[in-house]
Amino acid sequence: MSKDKSETSAKEFFPARKSLKAFRDAAADCKACDLWERGTQTVFGEGARRAEVVFVGEQPGNEEDLSGHPFVGPAGRLLDDALAEAGIDRSQTYVTNVVKHFKWEPRGKRRIHKKPNATEIKACRPWLEAEINLVKPKVIVCLGATAAQALLGPQFKVTKQRGQFLESTLAPYIMATVHPSSILRAPDDETRHTERRHFVDDLKKVAHVLSKR
Ligand code: URA
Ligand code: SF4
Repeated sequence: MSKDKSETSAKEFFPARKSLKAFRDAAADCKACDLWERGTQTVFGEGARRAEVVFVGEQPGNEEDLSGHPFVGPAGRLLDDALAEAGIDRSQTYVTNVVKHFKWEPRGKRRIHKKPNATEIKACRPWLEAEINLVKPKVIVCLGATAAQALLGPQFKVTKQRGQFLESTLAPYIMATVHPSSILRAPDDETRHTERRHFVDDLKKVAHVLSKR
């Protein structure tokens, strides 16, 4: 019997050697869901091998897809600035996504981001788990609902539970906050400013936990 595509998992592409580099190289050839055909390349996580904090976004965007690096576009620039304001050095972090390929639809000449579905998230999750298991961070920060629901459960509501440290087997501390893209999409300057400040406040809580020995 041929296997249902929805059951394919990134695990089938796992390397023999359990190092971050081996996983990155193996993920470059992943075809565990259909997104590999649409994206330019796999965008694996990046950052410090022994980072104390791992940030998890949804999926690479347009610039990430083209460059091959996570959070380098507009959302990444906002994240960098907010981290600096909160006193967290991005070079001391590890940044990744729930899904490693850019999912998009054409609109004119532009490629419009499309949310990954449950099958894609499930297929890709082993890469994220491997990254977390190898980096072993003290804190995981989920950026937005896709990451929060993937790591904290489908019932998780970012609007209600953002900025709170929760129990998890994944790391000593786990928190969800908004996705930086949602701040960029704010309807007016005042809302954007307020949202951004709230985001920096959440990151300051992370900075506080990191400063505790
Ligand atoms: N948005 C994400 O969720 N991840 C990226 O890497 C870039 C934008
Ligand atoms: Fe593999 Fe994830 Fe890309 Fe799907 S999105 S092909 S599971 S790396």
